[in-house]
Amino acid sequence: SYLGIDLGTSGLRALLTDDGGAPLASVERHYGLSHPHPGWSEQDPALWIAALEGAVEDLRRTQPAFAALRGIAVAGHMHGATLLDASDAVLRPCILWNDSRAHAEAAALDATPGLRETSGNIVFPGFTAPKLAWVRKHEPEIFARVAKVLLPAAYLNLYLTGLHVADMSDSAGTAWLDTGARDWSDALLRAGGMRRDQMPRLVEGSEAAGPLRETLRRTWGLDGPVTVAGGAGDNAAAACGIGALADGQGFVSLGTSGVLLAARDGYAPDPASAIHSFCHAVPGRWYQMGVMLSATDSLNWLSSITGPTPAELTAPLGETVRAPGPVRFLPYLSGERTPHNDSAMRGSFTGLGSGTTRDDLTRAVLEGVAFGLRDSLDALQGTGARLDSLLAIGGGARSRYWLKLIASTFGLPLVLPADAEFGAALGAARLALCAEAGTAPEQVMTAPGTATQIDPEPALVEACAAAHRQFRAAYPAIRAIQ
Ligand code: XUL
Repeated sequence: SYLGIDLGTSGLRALLTDDGGAPLASVERHYGLSHPHPGWSEQDPALWIAALEGAVEDLRRTQPAFAALRGIAVAGHMHGATLLDASDAVLRPCILWNDSRAHAEAAALDATPGLRETSGNIVFPGFTAPKLAWVRKHEPEIFARVAKVLLPAAYLNLYLTGLHVADMSDSAGTAWLDTGARDWSDALLRAGGMRRDQMPRLVEGSEAAGPLRETLRRTWGLDGPVTVAGGAGDNAAAACGIGALADGQGFVSLGTSGVLLAARDGYAPDPASAIHSFCHAVPGRWYQMGVMLSATDSLNWLSSITGPTPAELTAPLGETVRAPGPVRFLPYLSGERTPHNDSAMRGSFTGLGSGTTRDDLTRAVLEGVAFGLRDSLDALQGTGARLDSLLAIGGGARSRYWLKLIASTFGLPLVLPADAEFGAALGAARLALCAEAGTAPEQVMTAPGTATQIDPEPALVEACAAAHRQFRAAYPAIRAIQ
């Protein structure tokens, strides 16, 4: 069997598959994140280990196939800075992908000549390099002790193997990697005040990182040797899970963050568009994506201030999508990456009237997220990326209303895959299979069965396009008064 681990922002999912990569069982453990100051977002890596051990315990107890485990891979939330001293002790809580404290450091790095060309990306405040620049300035005693910087998935690789190893797809989100050459860049490391010896060894996500530590193998009651794969950033892993490896294949993900991803055969960066261009988790491929910082997070916020759960908020809308009304929502609760690269922007409702209801606000939130994703679609297409088929994944894909709205806003059909909820965990299990059995990724990473195709509502396409134009116009107008 194989184990795919999805180390997410709000919890860890562990998916056990059979030797052919078909899902057998999946378990989840939840944890929180802390916001010690506005714009900060941190997590204690000990929570990840506890969640992993708990999930493994559940699988051991219920799944006889677990004892015959052959391979493991970890997909992690990207960009997080886990700082270790020379004895691999964690120096401070991990600074997460949605933390914007390093905006000044990001802007300074981003202005370094040649940096965007080598990394292929804007230096966003959520990326790893500006976080280290922030630590250097504000916590110099910690910075002086940093022996290794690991992304969250690489930190679990260390727990599993005892080795410092990271994969290319996750490492591309640091702003220290030469994304075209798939190697650390000495120039980028120097610009960020870092050294190559502070970086983990690089492997492809579908290659072996090392064997599972003998103590873990015995404690977990495993029969034979277990290979740990390089793993991936969660978005690259999700692409592996739905078979998006080549030009034309991609997905829209409705998670804490909203992601629109297109796989690419080659490397075609376009940093100016605020599109991310990263290495894929398999050799010789790349992918591009637009990232919005608050997708389901926007609905969670509305739920937290009004009382009902997100599902209770969307239930009264039914499945028949209505044309956007007068209320607009800008989903910039934590600023935005694509297309604005603006960490200081905040969200807003406009067009409220005395007759506005809670359902109107819910609709406006779902629409605002759809319009933000449409901005990413426009930016992606501007780089020459094609999307012939677009799968819908992530927790928000459980809302049929939301999917129909997004299909109508994009003017493109969405495909709801049969195993939508496994996403990155399934992709990770597939990376483990490739690393252990030596199977070619193209053979393993096929598209899942289609559960449903969701077509645009012809009657809504024009209304959604008009509301999207208003949404676009609202950004500069509201930005001017913030
Ligand atoms: C991608 C990003 C997020 C996290 C979420 O650049 O920051 O999608 O990977 O887990």
